Amino acid sequence: MSSELFVLFLLLWFRVESARATNGNETLPGCQPKCGNVIIPYPFGIGAKCSIDSWANINCNTTFDPPKPFIGDYEVVQLSQTEVRIKNFVAVSCYNQSGNLTDQVFTSMSLVGTPYTFSSTKNIVTVLGCDTMVLTRGSNTLNYSSGCISICDTKENVIDGTCSGIGCCETSIPKGLQEFYALVGTIYYHTKVWSFDSCGYAFLGEQNMYSFKASDFTNSSHLTDIPLVLNFAVGNQTCKQAKQNSTAFACKDNSYCYDSVDHTGYLCSCNEGYEGNPYLKQGCQDVNECNNNPCKGICTNTQGGYSCSCPDDSYGDGTKEGTGCTKRNKKIPVIQLTLAGIVNEGKTEQVHAVAELAKRCLNFKGEERPSMKEVAAELEGLRGFEKHASVQKVNEESRTRESESVDLYAIPSGVYSVDSSSGQYSLEKKMMRSMNAPR
Ligand SMILES: *[C@@H]1O[C@H](CO)[C@@H](O)[C@H](O)[C@H]1NC(C)=O
Ligand SMILES: *[C@@H]1O[C@H](CO)[C@@H](O)[C@H](O)[C@H]1NC(C)=O
Ligand SMILES: *[C@@H]1O[C@H](CO)[C@@H](O)[C@H](O)[C@H]1NC(C)=O
Ligand SMILES: *[C@@H]1O[C@H](CO)[C@@H](O)[C@H](O)[C@H]1NC(C)=O
Ligand SMILES: *[C@@H]1O[C@H](CO)[C@@H](O)[C@H](O)[C@H]1NC(C)=O
Ligand SMILES: *[C@@H]1O[C@H](CO)[C@@H](O)[C@H](O)[C@H]1NC(C)=O
Ligand SMILES: *[C@@H]1O[C@H](CO)[C@@H](O)[C@H](O)[C@H]1NC(C)=O
Ligand SMILES: *[C@@H]1O[C@H](CO)[C@@H](O)[C@H](O)[C@H]1NC(C)=O
Repeated sequence: MSSELFVLFLLLWFRVESARATNGNETLPGCQPKCGNVIIPYPFGIGAKCSIDSWANINCNTTFDPPKPFIGDYEVVQLSQTEVRIKNFVAVSCYNQSGNLTDQVFTSMSLVGTPYTFSSTKNIVTVLGCDTMVLTRGSNTLNYSSGCISICDTKENVIDGTCSGIGCCETSIPKGLQEFYALVGTIYYHTKVWSFDSCGYAFLGEQNMYSFKASDFTNSSHLTDIPLVLNFAVGNQTCKQAKQNSTAFACKDNSYCYDSVDHTGYLCSCNEGYEGNPYLKQGCQDVNECNNNPCKGICTNTQGGYSCSCPDDSYGDGTKEGTGCTKRNKKIPVIQLTLAGIVNEGKTEQVHAVAELAKRCLNFKGEERPSMKEVAAELEGLRGFEKHASVQKVNEESRTRESESVDLYAIPSGVYSVDSSSGQYSLEKKMMRSMNAPR
């Protein structure tokens, strides 16, 4: 097979491979893959037959256009293999100029009885307002209460983008929380700041997704766009317990099990070298690592991995970290100069003469290259060298070395392995560097 044909073959093969690769978005066969704009991957599904359990059953409400997915009362924004993002609920308290409460919404969310928890690492409670204090509470196995106070006198004091207690404050939630409650209160009933801030707000939502702006005091509509991250688990057992019943075990081919961060159960993930949906039979498919060649030479994809090799006309292990691939040249043998000893003081001209000779040895065209005998004779002519070195001619066809001893000279020690394309340059370079280096 000619090399062009071979490359073409590889390209076509890669294309077929990548088309088969999966992205973890699959549903059970015959199930609706999307609700509106939201992708519904198994273990989630629309309807009892399409989901792993009732907690993962998505209610796709088609009275909305586009349809909206819900889990219980919570609108789903995104489903992934590790997390669920839902729409948050903003708690609000608003006052009129004389300090009377005109509007109040408090937040009360419960995930008790489900494998969901509020992610304590990804979510934070954000409070907005210039006369606002918020009390947050949670319970299930743990009872917690917390809060923060945000105060400011004038609009000018408020710095957009920084949430540090002036117009905006933040407080975190504990790990494993399943119930959350927030109530927005006030100290002076907004009477001192009413001209620019008549309301206080609080919401639990994804960290770093919100950037504070004073203009949000009067226009809070987009606060609900910050999603709330929920962790989940597929079973309420640990991996160790779950593995004991293989029919009920949720982790399928080429996947492994891990306990959920909040210790509510276990989750599955594809093994290294595989990607796709670990909850489906044959959901985890081999990754074709060769698609962006990790090798220096030829990449061969294998189940769960890959291997590197070199084309026929070169040798090495084919890897980037290892020996890579070095081209064998059938016509021009690689010449290795093994040089030993140290340059005598004031012999720079001789070194240059040797370098010049070496350069000719590396000449592309065979005819212009001196024979080993000529080299020997020429070196003989360069007197004043006491130390020894040898020139080795490496026969690449058989990869054996026939050494020819040559009377040589003294220049910095080291072995310079060069090939016909780059050797000349690197040889000179290395010599110069060694010569200039202090001893
Ligand atoms: C699901 O598909 C979308 C679009 O095809 C892609 O952006 C997303 O990364 C996929 N999700 C996973 C988990 O592979
Ligand atoms: C869909 O949403 C509408 C409006 O919120 C609601 O009245 C209706 O009961 C929902 N339908 C289902 C099947 O949940
Ligand atoms: C504020 O609300 C109270 C109670 O509803 C009302 O009596 C009062 O007139 C209102 N003040 C203003 C300035 O609107
Ligand atoms: C609310 O308004 C009433 C009059 O309608 C007033 O007596 C009362 O003090 C006001 N409350 C606050 C907290 O300002
Ligand atoms: C949490 O609070 C509830 C009611 O206030 C109480 O019954 C329960 O014992 C508390 N749990 C813990 C762990 O303190
Ligand atoms: C409120 O903010 C949103 C987005 O920041 C913007 O699209 C909308 O026009 C604003 N509404 C008002 C009344 O300013
Ligand atoms: C675990 O889940 C099973 C089935 O979903 C349920 O019957 C059982 O009560 C759950 N156990 C606990 C401790 O929640
Ligand atoms: C294993 O799980 C299946 C399906 O949930 C159940 O029917 C079966 O009784 C379980 N077996 C044992 C030994 O617990």
